[in-house]
Amino acid sequence: MNKIDKIKVLANAKINLSLKILGKLPNGYHLLHTVMQSVSLGDKLEIKLNNNNIINITCDNADIPTGEKNIAYKAAKVFFKEISSFKNIDNIGVDIFINKNIPEQAGMAGGSADAAGVLFGLNKIFDDFFDKQKLCSMGASLGADVAFCVKGGCQICTGRGEIMQAINGLDKISNCYIVVTKPKVNVSTPFAYGEYDKLPIKKDYDEQAFVNSLKNGENIASLMFNAFEEVIAGKQEYNSIFKAKEILLENGALGAIMTGSGSAVFGIFESKQKAEKAKSELENQQDFIKTQIVLPCENSCSVIE
Ligand code: C5P
Repeated sequence: MNKIDKIKVLANAKINLSLKILGKLPNGYHLLHTVMQSVSLGDKLEIKLNNNNIINITCDNADIPTGEKNIAYKAAKVFFKEISSFKNIDNIGVDIFINKNIPEQAGMAGGSADAAGVLFGLNKIFDDFFDKQKLCSMGASLGADVAFCVKGGCQICTGRGEIMQAINGLDKISNCYIVVTKPKVNVSTPFAYGEYDKLPIKKDYDEQAFVNSLKNGENIASLMFNAFEEVIAGKQEYNSIFKAKEILLENGALGAIMTGSGSAVFGIFESKQKAEKAKSELENQQDFIKTQIVLPCENSCSVIE
């Protein structure tokens, strides 16, 4: 049997440094060109095998579904299905407790990170039976961002987001601080894609210029962009998203954009003091639930115990 039967994993969130929507597939999904970066804000997962043949998910946040609807459940199910072709896992199930830190409906891959953390953690319990590539393909079957959350670091993601190419990330910049804030307002991902499709005129973005800026380390923050900002622009209910950008820029951010389909917004700073000032300015406003300073990281999932 396995040498260990339990593990604690940190599963980090992501931000999108750029996001362009290239087109729509017949199955309704969209083709993307996006650069994703792992950041030092993560959910903690306690994963422990049981002998009841049950996948049991619990979470310290009552808003998160716990049963089969939770993507972490689906991740465990996929992992067991795959490994059962190679090993006898009769009656093996798993208890998973999620300590939630990544804000929901934020565009920071909260659910996808948990799914990646489960794949990563179970794979560690089974002595790294599968390689990262295989874990990524299991992840891609669960959701568009899960493969990235398995791989982590900084990646140019294309296709639905699952085709990845590593690139220099913000961690290569010394003194890079990221202030990320979650406005009270939520944006649902399917809604954001649907509204984007309806836009009569869509902006064009120079994704290659952004990739080049990452390669040579110049003007990165000022070239960041997110096509989903077009969806919410000018709509009163989403004003706080633009207010967050304004506050970040007024306080010295080199660039500030929304991440993913929102609603979280982040700004890039080269000074800790400025980052702290921006954070406290955002905390003085009623519109934002939580504001944090995070760092770029090279890893998405790691063992914490
Ligand atoms: O894959 P995931 O569950 O994260 O996606 C949530 C929803 O976002 C999908 O149901 C789909 O409506 C939309 N989506 C999309 N194209 C992508 C990723 C997500 O249309 N590349």
